[in-house]
Amino acid sequence: MTRILILGANGQLARHTTALLLKQTDAHLTLYLRRASRLKNPAPSRMTIVEGDVLDGKALQAAMRGQDVVYANLSGPMAEQAAIIVASMHATGLTRLIFVSSMGIYGEVPGEKYRSVLDPYRDSAAVIEASDLDYTILRPGWFTHDDKIDYRLTQKGEPFQGHDVSLNSLSDLIMKLALLPTLHARASLGVSG
Ligand SMILES: NC(=O)c1ccc[n+]([C@@H]2O[C@H](COP(=O)([O-])OP(=O)(O)OC[C@H]3O[C@@H](n4cnc5c(N)ncnc54)[C@H](OP(=O)(O)O)[C@@H]3O)[C@@H](O)[C@H]2O)c1
Repeated sequence: MTRILILGANGQLARHTTALLLKQTDAHLTLYLRRASRLKNPAPSRMTIVEGDVLDGKALQAAMRGQDVVYANLSGPMAEQAAIIVASMHATGLTRLIFVSSMGIYGEVPGEKYRSVLDPYRDSAAVIEASDLDYTILRPGWFTHDDKIDYRLTQKGEPFQGHDVSLNSLSDLIMKLALLPTLHARASLGVSG
């Protein structure tokens, strides 16, 4: 049974992925979030809810102990968050990180100029890429509520294709990445529908 730590667990994509992981896997989930009272625990035998801030390294390390995979679904000062996540994973001996970023961080979207609003996404990706972790950085297009699971992946260095991607597609990909430690390890993937 895989043990997955979900950081920023009240985020839109994190909540969507949590529901899928509960339904389609037997993984144990630890939901890490600020103001934990916002979330209910529908499956206490398989899910633990921990109140914490990612910027609190001590609390983060405590939550990381015994986990197999870290799935980070964050916003805000992401470079600082990434540095604390990498250091905490080193301190606790974890190696597998799935980190949600955004399309455009390498100026890879045809016809679109890089925008400074992407700085936290670009800088956090750089922190993770400089680490020795088995990371997979996801660079999704705009989220949609389309039912379909249908996505294509582009590697770093390739032009991004498409524009949107469904939450269902992203959650499906995150589930596969969480269950297969070597899948797309040390890759930064553009994800679009
Ligand atoms: N929506 C799109 O179309 C789209 C497209 C491409 C990329 N993205 C990016 O993909 C990522 C995931 O998307 P999303 O819609 O799930 O984002 P979201 O709903 O904004 O969730 C981000 C979560 O990060 C949490 N967070 C921020 N700082 C934290 C900290 N210090 N400690 C703990 N938690 C913290 C927030 O917690 P609080 O609830 O406590 O504030 C929030 O729940 C985001 O970075 C988003 O910008 C989105």
